[in-house]
Amino acid sequence: MNSTVKSTANAPLLSVEDLRLSFGGVLAIDGLSFGVGEAEIVSVIGPNGAGKTSAFNCVTGFYRPTAGAVRLRGRDITGLRPSAVAALGVARTFQNLRLFGEMSVLDNVRAGTHLRIRQNVFDALLHTPRYRRGERESTEQAHHWLDFVGLRGDRYGPARALPYGEQRRVEIARALAREPDLLLLDEPAAGLNHGEKAETLDLIRRVRELGVAIVLIEHDMGLVMDVSQRVVVLNFGREIADGPPDEVRRDPEVVEAYLGRDADEAEIEEARASVAGGRDGGA
Ligand SMILES: Nc1ncnc2c1ncn2[C@@H]1O[C@H](COP(=O)(O)OP(=O)(O)O)[C@@H](O)[C@H]1O
Ligand SMILES: [Mg+2]
Repeated sequence: MNSTVKSTANAPLLSVEDLRLSFGGVLAIDGLSFGVGEAEIVSVIGPNGAGKTSAFNCVTGFYRPTAGAVRLRGRDITGLRPSAVAALGVARTFQNLRLFGEMSVLDNVRAGTHLRIRQNVFDALLHTPRYRRGERESTEQAHHWLDFVGLRGDRYGPARALPYGEQRRVEIARALAREPDLLLLDEPAAGLNHGEKAETLDLIRRVRELGVAIVLIEHDMGLVMDVSQRVVVLNFGREIADGPPDEVRRDPEVVEAYLGRDADEAEIEEARASVAGGRDGGA
């Protein structure tokens, strides 16, 4: 009946179930539920302060939800620490970049790979063959992911020396270096120019082609509608829609809460026309 739910016997990759989060009695998230299938792109949209980043923080273990559950392939991961969630194959980027500015670009991405590479303190102290091999593999992987994201700047210089758009790419490279099954991107195109946004769209598609599922928080409606299989809409912590992009963009409550405020004029007109019950009157 519901065409958006895959008819597999297995649990979805990610399942967020009636998530609630309050800060001193103020509800930042008031009942959020959605699922993400393997290699699916789901966008979470909504006005500033709607609770999008908080939802990411709950999924990735940075916040412990007040109620509700987060499951990964059916396994309850609610309240696990960020490192434990990351070890299960969930990587993320941050709305405000969190690169180590003084560290080289390459080392920032190498830091992402270390999770995967088996080393212990003795290996590191004694510089055993295993340690050297690990270091070499880590460097190779970092170069690979920097190529993948299309970094043009100097990878041996400090991360802070890169232009902003390039730093965003490095953050995505670092997240990919963990070889996640699920990648959460918090406004990856914010502050980017038109060309950089198009490149980000292409990058998101190529990540998905690797078999990685993506949850995307993004304000650029064109990008969201273009790339997502499903769109979840939050407004003041409440989930007001969850469906395919075409359906969501015509939802009256979405038009009112979100498109009416943040979209450009053409999008508002188009959305209103659709809501009013026909495309013929809308052009
Ligand atoms: N650590 C925190 N302490 C108190 N309030 C917070 C905290 N994090 C987020 N909030 C509040 O939760 C609400 C949702 O914020 P956020 O998740 O950042 O929204 P969005 O990402 O959709 O813009 C806001 O009202 C914000 O002020
Ligand atoms: Mg946010």
